[in-house]
Amino acid sequence: MTLKVAIAGDHGGFELKQKIVELLESLNMTYEDFGCYTCGSVDYPDYAFTVGSKVAAGEFDRGILICGTGVGISIAANKVKGVRCALVHDVFTAKATRQHNDSNVLAMGGRVIGDELAKMIVQTWLGEAFMGEHHANRLDKIAAYEGNESN
Ligand code: RB5
Repeated sequence: MTLKVAIAGDHGGFELKQKIVELLESLNMTYEDFGCYTCGSVDYPDYAFTVGSKVAAGEFDRGILICGTGVGISIAANKVKGVRCALVHDVFTAKATRQHNDSNVLAMGGRVIGDELAKMIVQTWLGEAFMGEHHANRLDKIAAYEGNESN
């Protein structure tokens, strides 16, 4: 299956996002870059909501979000119903969050990790499948909670 990937980030993630875009190009991935396109100051929630809503709507299979720490943009992305955004700075978690959490959005901090580790994380995360079974029951509980407006 060819994954369709939406990518975006704020100024804190700009340089790393450009490196990840180059990686997606080199892998011949189908992707769209939703900005930002310069290192000028912007607000990370705008980018998180754009990518998150496109993944949740099924327009894209996966999203990649990058800010300075990855924290703000992952918090914002997880406010979008249907998004399971994982903040990842190591290869073990990249693999585990696909297998166990079926994460559909990956967040990273451009001021936290180096380009080569980030590229390895992205390739691992894109290539790993969800294991299902008992992990699916847990995701069902999250979805049920999310769908209950009286929470
Ligand atoms: C922007 O300066 C910075 O706050 C942002 O990129 C991110 O790290 C927030 O969590």
